[in-house]
Amino acid sequence: MPKTDNINSIIDHKLFTEEDIHNMCVKLGKQLTADYAGKKPLIVGALKGAIFFLTDLVREMDVKAEIDFLDVSSYGDEMESSGEVKLISDLATDVKDRDVLIVEDIVDTGLTLEYMKDLLKKRGAKSVKCCVLLNKEANRTSDVEVEYSGSKVGNEFVVGYGLDFMNYYRNLRYIGVLKPEIIKLVNNK
Ligand code: IMP
Repeated sequence: MPKTDNINSIIDHKLFTEEDIHNMCVKLGKQLTADYAGKKPLIVGALKGAIFFLTDLVREMDVKAEIDFLDVSSYGDEMESSGEVKLISDLATDVKDRDVLIVEDIVDTGLTLEYMKDLLKKRGAKSVKCCVLLNKEANRTSDVEVEYSGSKVGNEFVVGYGLDFMNYYRNLRYIGVLKPEIIKLVNNK
């Protein structure tokens, strides 16, 4: 890990400012309010990356919704998906006959999202859709459907607003691209 306490110093450039992120949440919130009108969805946040996005998104939704969390991991401390998805911590809520909306920070290969959707469908959910903040399409290996997304991103590693590198930098207010030397530092360890 870089020996600095200044978390902004690891950023090469900003991709999305706080205002950009806020605008994405407002736009998605409006869409979801319209699409879930008259329903009582269960909103499932994918830990830990989605917590910042989820809290902002649900406050833009004028919908009677329940919230629960699922922790599923395919990365561990790595920067690339291991390809194997593990359930780390389960929901407390029964999803049978529920309209479920998964909220995820970023979809990359799509394997994590596919795993979560399959799991919730198998448990009898009435509908399972997802809302991701960022959609990284370059590495997609799954044909999982991404119903709602804030923005597309290129094939670069981004951090901030919940997104982490080695479990750090989630608490940046904006989303930025990591400096290449930070990535090299870790890869050469
Ligand atoms: P997937 O299964 O390959 O789609 O991976 C999804 C998960 O990978 C996300 O929930 C993130 O935790 C992580 N991830 C993918 N790309 C990035 C990135 O650029 N920055 C931080 N985390 C990422």
